[in-house]
Amino acid sequence: MQDPKYVKDAFADIADKYVFTNHVLSFGIDILWRRKVAKMIKHRDPINVLDIATGSGDLALEIQKKCPNAEVIGSDFCEPMLQQAEKRGLKKTVLADALNLPFSDNFFNAVTVGFGLRNMADWSVALNEMFRVLSSKGYLIILDFSLPKGSLGRKLYRSYLHNVLPAVAGLITGKRSAYRYLGGTIESFPSGKEMCSLIESRGFSNSKFHPLSGGIATIYSAEKY
Ligand SMILES: C[S@@+](CC[C@H](N)C(=O)[O-])C[C@H]1O[C@@H](n2cnc3c(N)ncnc32)[C@H](O)[C@@H]1O
Repeated sequence: MQDPKYVKDAFADIADKYVFTNHVLSFGIDILWRRKVAKMIKHRDPINVLDIATGSGDLALEIQKKCPNAEVIGSDFCEPMLQQAEKRGLKKTVLADALNLPFSDNFFNAVTVGFGLRNMADWSVALNEMFRVLSSKGYLIILDFSLPKGSLGRKLYRSYLHNVLPAVAGLITGKRSAYRYLGGTIESFPSGKEMCSLIESRGFSNSKFHPLSGGIATIYSAEKY
């Protein structure tokens, strides 16, 4: 659970360097993860999609490209991040707190959130809002970081996450502390079955998880019936 003021200010500070820094730190793998989510969404042939915590729009832009007939809305509570999304071609953005979404009940065919839920002040309230705005048979996808399963992989990843990553990101953005914060959030974020239980506790059904790249990220999917 995170402090929303800290989160908003931290992302405002790095908004213009966020996309580049991400691709450097992940060696570009994050692009493939978002593409996979967009493919899963395309498969559902939605009329409309809400990408919550869209930031500078990476995931929403990928969905917009793969689903040209769908209305794709990106929402975020950090204006400088949303401005980046608009500059990069996201057609519809809405400034909104994920814990209190300004959309009607049962409105969207699909809701996505990429690397966003982990940064929110209350994961259950955020999931309640996702459930509320989804239509019946609506589809939820959450993409976020997780820790690899094996002890060696976990040890290596932790060393990268807590040492290399903040140092490199600090050099690019000048904001080392924002990236030290990232490691902490990944450590405390539920993953795998634990995350699926949290998702189902908010009313969703059929939750599944798909670890990516040895488990350093995971896609969670679920449905509203
Ligand atoms: C790591 S970025 C993810 C951006 C994008 N989804 C991506 O795939 O790269 C996290 C975003 O979550 C947003 N965020 C965090 N808490 C939020 C909240 N309560 N409401 C709306 N946006 C929030 C931040 O402003 C930030 O833009």
